[in-house]
This record gives sequence, structure tokens and C-alpha cells, in this order.
Amino acid sequence: MITLNEAQIILEKYGQQHILGCYDQLSEAEKQDLLDQIERVDFSVLDNLDKEKNANYNRGKFEPLGAVTIDDINKNRELYKAKGLEAIRSGKAAAVLLAGGQGTRLGFDKPKGMFNMGVSRELFIFECLINNLMKVVDEAGAWVPLYIMTSEKNHDDTTSFFEEKNYFGYNKDFVRFFIQDMAPSVGYDGKILMEGKGRISSSPNGNGGWFSSMVRAGLLSDLKEKGIEWLNVFAVDNVLQQIADPLFIGAVIESGCESGGKVVSKAAPDERVGVLCLEDGMPSIVEYYEMTEEMRTLLTDDGDLAYKYGVILNYLFNINKLEQIVGDKLPVHIVEKKIPFMDENGQFISPDKPNGYKFETLVLDMVHQQSSCLPYEVERWKEFAPVKNPTGVDSVESARELLKQNGVEL
Ligand code: UTP
Repeated sequence: MITLNEAQIILEKYGQQHILGCYDQLSEAEKQDLLDQIERVDFSVLDNLDKEKNANYNRGKFEPLGAVTIDDINKNRELYKAKGLEAIRSGKAAAVLLAGGQGTRLGFDKPKGMFNMGVSRELFIFECLINNLMKVVDEAGAWVPLYIMTSEKNHDDTTSFFEEKNYFGYNKDFVRFFIQDMAPSVGYDGKILMEGKGRISSSPNGNGGWFSSMVRAGLLSDLKEKGIEWLNVFAVDNVLQQIADPLFIGAVIESGCESGGKVVSKAAPDERVGVLCLEDGMPSIVEYYEMTEEMRTLLTDDGDLAYKYGVILNYLFNINKLEQIVGDKLPVHIVEKKIPFMDENGQFISPDKPNGYKFETLVLDMVHQQSSCLPYEVERWKEFAPVKNPTGVDSVESARELLKQNGVEL
């Protein structure tokens, strides 16, 4: 535990002395708690603020990358499926659910997975995902180990919900939870916000730290003991997410690629999705806001969009590679968000518009750490129904429609 003096030195270095502004008013226990938080906070992320104008890192030269298309997959269906099922049956594949986000856009005060998609019955997001995974378990005749990443903010709610719902029929011996790390939140002036007199405002540090958090949680030995080689990482909020998809796993193994990413054909040149492409010859994801007009509209000889394949946050990574890169730093993204805080009068404020920045690393940046990544095309209406907003684009409404189209009773 650091002393008050050591804490003051750290805070001075980063210009954050205000954090101790109410220190004298705290109880002994609260004082200890605050020093403990100061010791644990990664203040180095604040350095990224100065570089904001230069973007958070310099990008290289982008080039388009084709995909294994739906047609290609149909031609090789039997082969891919056999390979994938073999990997699942021999315990080489596991799934990692990224559920540490705060889902601020949805505006639901519980973990996003607890949101009820049902209309005339209950059908929770977590339940949709487990139902999808169960299809694979039934086909393979083997349980797929499922690791669930939560954050300090939603861990207890998430784990008790799974308990209460009896894991929606999944075998709980194959489910492990782990908690991701936190990063401080700052106001527009770069000062760390306070949630209370002795509480630093912090938030989950993005979905990029999932593997290092798994390692910190001691799960590497668990993966090794089980002989797991492939991890299928996916987002909580796509209710049509196909998890541990044997075809996808089989195609990646068969391709010899180090990793794979599920992609959908872009609906329009300006659709707001990241595109799987090459950057300086290595696989990479270019965000929609990083694409120039020329890139967005570039066509192939066949008249198709050259930067065509958008990612849907469903990747397959190889453990050996993950172990090699676990210590490498990922770019830190600065994201504008609504951050509840305590103002100078001690008043707790829940802002209705963004008031500062959070710092996040992103799983999509891990693609650029891979020597190869197979873009694997899936049908959008069958596999991509993100629940980001209550209404409109990528919303509860649009996802309900897609669930219905796929024969899911609501
Ligand atoms: P989003 O980028 O949609 O972020 O997450 P979010 O926090 O859930 O939602 P908004 O932006 O506040 O509305 C994509 C996926 O990554 C997970 C989310 O749970 C979701 O599955 N995630 C995100 C984490 O696991 N940890 C994080 O720190 C952030």
C-alpha cells in the first residue's frame, strides 16, 4: 500500500492533485481505500490525451483484402464442418464472451445480457447467446468451454443472473467468469473525474484487454490443462451471434491462418463498420471514420466494393499467438462518453450528454498483431443483429425483427 506522500508524488506527475482534495474529510478506511485506488489506477493512459490531435497512432498503407465468401464456404461445407466439429469434440476450441461493457447507448441499468428481447415471453440476451451455443453443443455432442468477461461494475449482477437462471440450461462446469481491468475517466480538461469524495471515476478499459485479463485471472493454466488451442471471442450484444461455429473454426484451421474474423458484406459504401483489410501487408481493421472517400467507394474489376467486408466482433484467435503478444501494447482509443461525477459542490451529476473521455483498448486492434487473419463471410440477416440502441439502427427493434426472421419466437 502506498503512503499519502507517495500518492501525492504520483498525482503531481500527472497533474491530478485534486483527487486528494477532500482527503482530510474522509474516514480512515476511506483514506486507505482512496490510496489503494491511486495505486491501482493506470495513470499512463492519460499520456494519450496529448497526442489526441495526431490520432492515437499512425496508420500504415491500407490495401483491400478479399474474403472466403459464402459461395466458397458452401462449396467446402462438409470439409469445414468436419474439421470444426473435430476441433470441438477434441476440446481444442472454447468461446469467450465479452460482457464487460457498460452499454451506455442502450441506457439499461443492468448488464446488457440481462436485457429482455422477448415481447410476449422472456428471452434475455444472454439466453439468446446460450441457445445459439447449445446448437453447436448438440451437434458436436460436446460442451464448449465458455469464458465470460465481466467488469467490476457488472460482475455480481452477471454471475447472480446466470445462477438464478440456471445458466439457461448450459453446463455450469464449463463456464468460467473473469473480471477485466479498469481505466480512469477524465473531463474535457483532462482532470480525472471523481464519483465521490474518496472515489475515482473509472470504467472498464475496453474489450482489448480480454486475454491479458484472462491471464491475470489465472485462466491460462485452465486453458492449457484443457488443451484449448482456439478461442472464439464475441460480443454480448449480437443476439444472432453464432458461437464456436464449426464451419468457421474448420475454415480457419484449413486455411492455415493464424486467426479469423467473421465479416458481412457492407450494405452501403458509407456503412459505419470497421473493414477487415491489409495495413502494410498485415491484417488490420480500418474504422469507418478512418476511411477516405476514395477507399469507401473504390471498386474491384467486378464492380464490387474493394473494402467490402465489415467485421461483426466475432474472431478466432490461436492461444500460442495470444501468449506471444500478451505483453505488447495495443493502441489506446479515447472515447467521448457520458460520465457520472461529483461536482465541486459535492453534488452527484448524471450528465445527459457526453462530458469527458474514457480510455479503451479494442479487440479489433489485435487483428493487426496477427501474421494472418481469414475474413470469413456470413449472411448478415442470419448472424448479425446488434443491440446497441433502444430504437433505430442496430437497436432492440431491428434485432427483434431479425430474430423473428430467423424463426425465434418472441
Ligand atoms: P461496445 O463497443 O458496444 O461498448 O462493446 P459498450 O460499452 O458495450 O456499449 P456503449 O458504447 O457504452 O453503448 C462491444 C462489446 O465489447 C464488450 C461489450 O460488452 C460488447 O460485448 N466490452 C466493451 C467489454 O467487454 N469491455 C469493455 O470495456 C467495453
